[in-house]
Amino acid sequence: MPQPRNILVTSALPYANGSLHLGHVLEYIQTDIWARFQRARGHHCLYMCADDAHGTAIMLKAEQLGLTPEQHIANMQAEHERDFADFLIGVDNYHSTHSEENRELSAMIYRRLQENGHIDSRTITQAFDPEKQLFLADRYIKGTCPRCSTPDQYGDNCEACGATYSPTELIDPVSAISGATPVEKESEHFFFTLPAFTNFLREWTRSGTLQDEMANKLAEWLDEGLQEWDISRDAPYFGFEIPDAPGKYFYVWLDAPIGYMASLKNYCDKNGLDWQEYWKKDSTAEVYHFIGKDIVNFHALFWPAMLDSADFRTPTKVCVHGFLTVNGKKMSKSRGTFINARNYLDHLNPEYLRYYFAAKLTGGVDDLDLNLDDFIARVNSDLVGKVVNIASRTAKFVGKGGGVLVEQLADEKLWQQFVDAEPRIADFYENREYARAMREIMALADAANAWIADKAPWSLAKDESKAEEVLAICSQGVNMFRALITWLAPVLPQTAEKAAQFLNSELKWATATTPLANHSIGEFKPLMQRVEKTQVDAVMEAAKESLAQLQAETKPVSGPLAEDPIAPEIQFDDFAKVDLRIALIAKAEHVEGAGKLLKLTLDLGGETRQVFSGIKSAYKPEDLQGKLTVMVANLAPRKMRFGISEGMVLAAGPGGKDLWLLEPHPGAVPGMRVM
Ligand code: MSP
Ligand code: ZN
Repeated sequence: MPQPRNILVTSALPYANGSLHLGHVLEYIQTDIWARFQRARGHHCLYMCADDAHGTAIMLKAEQLGLTPEQHIANMQAEHERDFADFLIGVDNYHSTHSEENRELSAMIYRRLQENGHIDSRTITQAFDPEKQLFLADRYIKGTCPRCSTPDQYGDNCEACGATYSPTELIDPVSAISGATPVEKESEHFFFTLPAFTNFLREWTRSGTLQDEMANKLAEWLDEGLQEWDISRDAPYFGFEIPDAPGKYFYVWLDAPIGYMASLKNYCDKNGLDWQEYWKKDSTAEVYHFIGKDIVNFHALFWPAMLDSADFRTPTKVCVHGFLTVNGKKMSKSRGTFINARNYLDHLNPEYLRYYFAAKLTGGVDDLDLNLDDFIARVNSDLVGKVVNIASRTAKFVGKGGGVLVEQLADEKLWQQFVDAEPRIADFYENREYARAMREIMALADAANAWIADKAPWSLAKDESKAEEVLAICSQGVNMFRALITWLAPVLPQTAEKAAQFLNSELKWATATTPLANHSIGEFKPLMQRVEKTQVDAVMEAAKESLAQLQAETKPVSGPLAEDPIAPEIQFDDFAKVDLRIALIAKAEHVEGAGKLLKLTLDLGGETRQVFSGIKSAYKPEDLQGKLTVMVANLAPRKMRFGISEGMVLAAGPGGKDLWLLEPHPGAVPGMRVM
């Protein structure tokens, strides 16, 4: 037996400003399979994660929802944790970067960087929103492209012609948050002296910590020369204030990776362990970060340099994966291929996706495609048709023969194939070559099925004198199934659990190829259903609906975050097409499960309409009932997640709590046309 290893593994901390989608899920499944594999092999493996709760985007989103950032991140964390649990992602701890542990550790690490002379400060000039009193990152500035004159382009690149530029070059720039014209403003910023770590990083990135393709990419960046890294942001900012620098906050990416430590510290404090055992300079533990290819610079440049300066050990490996595509295309909201974790979970078994991802994951950084037809075919043919089939066609004959597995193997040679495959399968898992592990396992399943078909115990069973032979064949069948499901347990924890019950035996990697002999098994019950196309269709339908919902909810009536603050000029005829009517709010109700919507029943003087309106942040339903307002009465009905919306009410204001429904003169009569 090899020495048990002490392993810490992490996944990238999802931002607390939105729901998880299947791209996130790919990473968390990849990490979870690896952690479960390590535990199955008898190693001590802790899997830590957390929400990444800081930054401007989260601050603005909370404001838009009429919540404090703390409330908003608490809601998101609860949702993320439910998604993790339902995808069977067995984290040992799920914490938040907005935590006391992280505040302390971030301050401590920053102090050490400062003491070592790795923090510089200087004054820089940036775009500033004079209305919101907020410095604007490039993506919060919009304007007309200086090259092709397309309006409404983001501050750093043009979607129409592909030009890249700095926001100061935009024609007629506006703040995407308030619509105000940005001004230039100076402020002092703090910088981490990354160039001082160039030699250290050259060596570190080539020391087996990264896949070759990633090490090569980083070598290019190192050759181009590193820049100092701006780690401070000015108030207002949702984050941690920098020690001794009032009004200055740590940039979200400074404290985000420290969140890995903070989650571990939180776990260790609860469990009487010492988190420093993992992170101290001479630690014998191993540390693995699983991340997507978009955030390699943070994990393989900034983070190891910070750790080195702050006198901590660096990660053993940074394991980078590619991006998930759906039916060959980038997950995209406009193409309807953007699938939330919950859209999937509402209709399908999490293990199907766990297996499909495992069957396609390699140790490299290539993108991985979720092809929905292939998904159905693979799951049905491999899991139901091959693996589970071995048990279902042999277990019943063992039951009929007394329910006890015999001692003698019916085919030693075949069994030896299983014994020989075990170390290969283990190596594939260790190196994240899950696709190869799955192929190896399915090849054994094919061999087992072919052998069973050839022996045809169902025919032999008709002849009573062959009872012993039937039992020997089927005992081996059950034992082959047991080995396979033991190796699949990191991917299919729930099915493995059910199999263990029917086999009446704990599934242990170490004893997978020691056949159960003179061992009585329980009654076989179906372990897994086939995937149906209708279920997959339902997922895609749900994905489209929740997208429409999200758009309806986040593009409020008006407000600073409405995506197109300035509409084009229209003619009077266009305006006359809008049928504005006085409406009486007969009923106003909460909508279960909707964050921003209220359901209004509007009386148009005889006719009633149901309208869903994103005004929950500003109004209590009981305060609305009996009031008059103005509605667009000839808007085409729209199907939303919670029902059909038959019109729109008019409101004004920047959003959040500051949103006012239009209130006509109390003498107005419901149904009256507004001109
Ligand atoms: N908050 C940062 C990570 C901080 S780690 C100290 C972040 N969050 S994220 O929510 O945008 O992404 C979380 C992880 O999901 C990242 O590793 C990212 O690469 C991964 N993915 C996001 N979209 C993805 C796909 N479409 N496909 C695969 N992984 C993807 O980045
Ligand atoms: Zn352009």
